Amino acid sequence: MGFGRGKVILLGEHAVVHGCPAIAVGIERGVTATAAAAERDLLRLSPWDLALRADPKGDEPLERAFAVALAMYPSRPPLEVSAQVDLPAGAGLGCSAAIGVAVLDAIDEALGIERSRTDLATAALAWEEIFHGNPSGIDNTMSAIGGVGFYRKGDALRPLRSNKPLHLVIGYSGESSSTKQMVASVGRQLKSDRKRVNKAFEGIEVLVRNAKLAIEAGDHIALGQLLDLNHTILSSLMLCTTKLDDMCQAARHAGALGAKMTGAGGGGCMFALAPKRDEALRLQDVLGEDSFVAEVSA
Ligand code: MEV
Repeated sequence: MGFGRGKVILLGEHAVVHGCPAIAVGIERGVTATAAAAERDLLRLSPWDLALRADPKGDEPLERAFAVALAMYPSRPPLEVSAQVDLPAGAGLGCSAAIGVAVLDAIDEALGIERSRTDLATAALAWEEIFHGNPSGIDNTMSAIGGVGFYRKGDALRPLRSNKPLHLVIGYSGESSSTKQMVASVGRQLKSDRKRVNKAFEGIEVLVRNAKLAIEAGDHIALGQLLDLNHTILSSLMLCTTKLDDMCQAARHAGALGAKMTGAGGGGCMFALAPKRDEALRLQDVLGEDSFVAEVSA
């Protein structure tokens, strides 16, 4: 069975596209997939009830991505790949990358190809590039490798170690957004107001570096404060919505150590850092029925 995890960016999204480091975690929810020889190439996606062909010029990004994936295997039979997606799409949890990782992993398994999760992550970047032209590579890397990682575009993922697990509560605003559009919006702001946006990126980089130390030291109070500050800088880049702000505020009032939007923004998900497991369950009630708890060990 092929598997691609979802991911939560703890700090550093968007700045990571422009060369700054970021910290992210892989979560247990994701995409599973199987592949088998068939009469023709087909990608089935549930629960969306989609059956897509591989078409390098298709209207659907998934058709183009599937064509890119299949082209990596020059001698193969026609393949039917069935993927089960257990992540909201367009919600900042790395759904497209997780599908790519799961599909490639399933094809590898069907064809008896063995490769490391790091090589799988590298291969899945070509899939991710179909969905937005300028990916940092963090989504496909976390999807394939998981754990808690310090990532900088072009470098190998650096796993972070700590003896204290992170209790995250992920809340979905119900608003979906396009990573491509959000990344392009930041790109436009950078072009028109380079000084302001570079200052924002510099600020984010300082927060990411301090968050690395806080995670390694198990100092979740400091980590929570850094998350709140990162959320504010992302707001200044016009990436947050009122709903995301309200959810973060509600989580803080209910005892979260910190809360921020995660991923591309403009909708999608936020997360809260809970002090303990039982408080994570309480925060889940505050963040609504679509929210879920992820316990991540560094
Ligand atoms: C999307 O999950 C994270 C972004 O930083 C884009 C990227 O890193 O490719 C917004």
